[in-house]
Amino acid sequence: MLDQENPRINSHFLKSLRQENTSYTPIWLMRQAGRYLPEYHSVRKNSGGFLALCKTPELACEVTIQPLRRFQLDAGIIFSDILTIPDAMGLGLEFIEGKGPIFQNPIRHANEINNLNYLELNHKLDYVFSAISLTRNEMPSDIPLIGFSGSPFTIACYMIEGKSSKEFLTAKKFLSTNSNIFTNLLEKLTVAITNYLLEQINRGVDVIQIFDTWGGILPETKFVKFSLEPITKITKSIKKKYPDIPIIIFTKTGDRWLEKITIDAKVEAISIDSTVDIGKAFTQINNRAAIQGNLDPNVLLANRKILLAETKNILQKVDRARSQAFEQNQRFGHIFNLGHGILPQAPPDNVKALVDYVHNFKINQNHI
Ligand code: CP3
Repeated sequence: MLDQENPRINSHFLKSLRQENTSYTPIWLMRQAGRYLPEYHSVRKNSGGFLALCKTPELACEVTIQPLRRFQLDAGIIFSDILTIPDAMGLGLEFIEGKGPIFQNPIRHANEINNLNYLELNHKLDYVFSAISLTRNEMPSDIPLIGFSGSPFTIACYMIEGKSSKEFLTAKKFLSTNSNIFTNLLEKLTVAITNYLLEQINRGVDVIQIFDTWGGILPETKFVKFSLEPITKITKSIKKKYPDIPIIIFTKTGDRWLEKITIDAKVEAISIDSTVDIGKAFTQINNRAAIQGNLDPNVLLANRKILLAETKNILQKVDRARSQAFEQNQRFGHIFNLGHGILPQAPPDNVKALVDYVHNFKINQNHI
């Protein structure tokens, strides 16, 4: 499609990712389709469970669009999960109510990694691509659609641990004792994720987000080799084929490495968690990329006054960072989002108040 014909090219979201000025701040929310919405529960109730919902393109399309009907969000994110890849590899994924994901056949031995099917996965993931094409057709044509994957390290953690965890001790022990075998797994995941994301773009997503949820648990010496290097391989391959598709990397407790991530992975934006000061994050990356994220998801459960005060606090810090950037003739980009996924207890009215507040907040007019 020629750029002039793409009705999303001048959306505030894509402009911010290109570090172009916008008249208001774009906003979308991680996990914006999900359990805090009553209409999500109605669809999920009759779908046969979360995974069945992901695997039925019509339903995945419907729940992707649900939050866009309610709120004036600046982007949609395809309804799916980062664990679709290990599911396609045959690890036996189940989502158990209240417990999260569980694998029947987690990876525990080198020979299980040697036997992994990682080259011909895309046909098993066709339900994701079909959901993307369908959603792209059904969604308002001026709203960008985000595709995504987990980072190789984050997906490897779940494959070895076999379930959710706060510390991923089994995965970390595996990494310390069998680092070559772990690297072999990361290499296979890097190939599978690259193919997966390229096909998502081919089928219609406008932006890619890579969730490196667990890279931050690694010590300095291991983060670059096991988390960032595989991500960089993926971003390079995507940029080679689709130089105009922006890439966002979400990092949790990875603030020590914000600068390194933007320099090495050469992405358009970095999505930060809530433990970081957003003003300092802009200084750290020196406006080499746009910044997304930061609002503590718990604040959406607080009363409206607290929610809006915290939101204002972030927007004012961003405004100061923007002024500094312009003084130094640097480009600047900001996308409002949470520091992590929205909680199921978030009242939809608070989400609406947040979106409206962000849109109405006057960006420092001297600079636009
Ligand atoms: O953001 C969106 O709206 C798109 C959909 C999306 C989901 N998961 C749907 C989901 C996205 C982008 C994800 C990413 C994801 N999944 C990550 C990375 C981001 C992060 O949260 O750190 C991770 C680590 C997962 C794995 C995963 N999926 C876990 C650990 C869980 C259980 C915890 C929980 O929140 O229930 C899930 C389940 C899940 N993924 C749900 C949704 C809407 C809840 C399922 C339900 O309806 O019961």
